[in-house]
This record gives sequence, structure tokens and C-alpha cells, in this order.
Amino acid sequence: VNFPPLTLNPVFNITRASHVVLGVRDLAKSKIFYCDMMGFVATAEENETLYLRGLEEGCHHSLTLRRSDEPGCMRLGMRVQTDADLEPLKAHFEKHGLPAEFVEVAHQKRTLHATDPVGTLLEFCASMETRPRLILKMKHHHGACPMRLDHYQVFTSDVPRALAFYMEMGFRVSEYIVRDNTDDLFMVFLHRKWNPHDIVFTESPGPRLHHIAFTSPESYHLFHLCDMAASFGFGDLVEYGPGRHFGPGYAQFVYIRDPDGHRIECFNNHYQTMDIEDEPVRFNMSDTYGPNVWGPDRPETRRKEGSPRK
Ligand SMILES: [Fe+2]
Repeated sequence: VNFPPLTLNPVFNITRASHVVLGVRDLAKSKIFYCDMMGFVATAEENETLYLRGLEEGCHHSLTLRRSDEPGCMRLGMRVQTDADLEPLKAHFEKHGLPAEFVEVAHQKRTLHATDPVGTLLEFCASMETRPRLILKMKHHHGACPMRLDHYQVFTSDVPRALAFYMEMGFRVSEYIVRDNTDDLFMVFLHRKWNPHDIVFTESPGPRLHHIAFTSPESYHLFHLCDMAASFGFGDLVEYGPGRHFGPGYAQFVYIRDPDGHRIECFNNHYQTMDIEDEPVRFNMSDTYGPNVWGPDRPETRRKEGSPRK
């Protein structure tokens, strides 16, 4: 595959995937699912909005749940290094004829809303309020022990277009999946923070959110999440796994759907990739399951279902 050229020194510095805003129908039910069962920390609940963070996160929120009659994905959030990165970033979107405007968002400092060329609703800020990290407050650790947001995956019918736009913004490809023995891109895994992914694009009608992913400390927590789900009456929402990605990322994982169908991945490890000679790693679609891989193939729901743009 001929990838677009690397942009090693973009005029703005996007640092990482940092937060997500989802619309949910019943905040009380979501709170049971995310806090009591999964183990997220509730930073605040106000104005029909629940602000959640992982146990190691010092930010006010990495997952914002807004009450909404129709569930959907409202924003995918990214951090930039400083406020000074936001103006050139806005100009970058405008240069491509894409919407970009500054907005007020509670608990965040200067915030840019923008839409990428495949219709993903994005949000950028350099900083938000902080809260104590609860890494060592073991009395708060339970469920899957979600530690931090790591990445999100988006469905789009035009993977090459998304790839070109994000690479121009300084993202690098860690891994990619092609239709077997062709250069036809099925998935691209893009990162800014020097581990395999911040944002992943998969070919399927979009824009739709496929999943958001949080780290868990140990593989034990992936199994414990399933036990907790069953105990809370959410057992049928465990969609796929626990298993291992015999392909991009290599991590052990479990996918669960929340009460509104939003897909959450918990996984236990990722590797570092930052050296200039770290070339994108290629996989064929059929490499990721089969005789050298344990466990069943992905269920149809995981291939096809996602959260609509809201
Ligand atoms: Fe993932």
C-alpha cells in the first residue's frame, strides 16, 4: 500500500484521543452500568449529564454521557498540547472546506468543534479541569478497573480519504488490514501518542462509532467484568471475548454493549511505536482468525452494528 507522506512536524500538535461524548436514554441505568458494574469514577452529575473518568485519569472526564431521546455518538474528543494549537488546527479544517468553530463546553477550556471529511464530529481542547488520579486508592477499584481511555474506532465508507486527512494532521499508521492479498484497505490504525492507536477507521457505512476502548490492568479484569455483567443482569450485553487480538494491537480484550448499544472495549496492554523506522504492519483480513488463532470469529453484530452520529 502506498501511504501518504508522513507529516512529522505539523503546525499544530494533537497529542491523543482523550474523551468521548455519548447520548444515552436513561442516565440512572447508565450510571449502574458504567459506575457500579464497570468501575468508572463519576466525577460529576449535572444538567442531565454524567461525567466519568478512569481510575488513573487526572482529567475531569474521558466519557461524557448526555441524556438524549435517541442514543448516539455526539463527539470524539482529542487533546492538543496548548491553546495555541487550536487556531492553526481550525485553519486546517477550513482550508479543506470543513466546519470548525469555537464553542463553550463545561469543565473544558478553549474548545474547537470540527468535522472531518468522512463526517466524524470531533472536539479539540488543550485542557480541562483536573481531579486526583485514583491509581493508588484501591478502595475505588472494582469491576473492569477501567484505567484510561486509549482509542476509538469509527466506521466510514471511505477509509483512504480519512487516512489521507489524518496523516496530513500528523497521525501515523501503526497497522492496517487489507482485503486478502490486495492493497484494498479495510482498516487503518492511526496514532499520535506512540502506541498503536488513537483513532481507527473501518470500512462500513458511516460515520458511526464502532467502539471506545479503555485499558484494564490485568486479563483477570476482563473476565471479572463478564462476571459482574452477569451479576448485574447485563450478561447478554457481553458481545465478544474475552479473547486476544491476533492482529492489530495484540492485546487481550472483551467487548460489551452498554444499555444504549454503545460498544465498549476493555483491553490489557499495548506496545510502544515511535521510531522513524517503525513501518506500518500489514495484515490480511483472514490473518486475524483461523487455525493459528484461538477462540471463535467475531460475531455479526460486531461487524455490522455501531452508534450513529448524533
Ligand atoms: Fe479497540
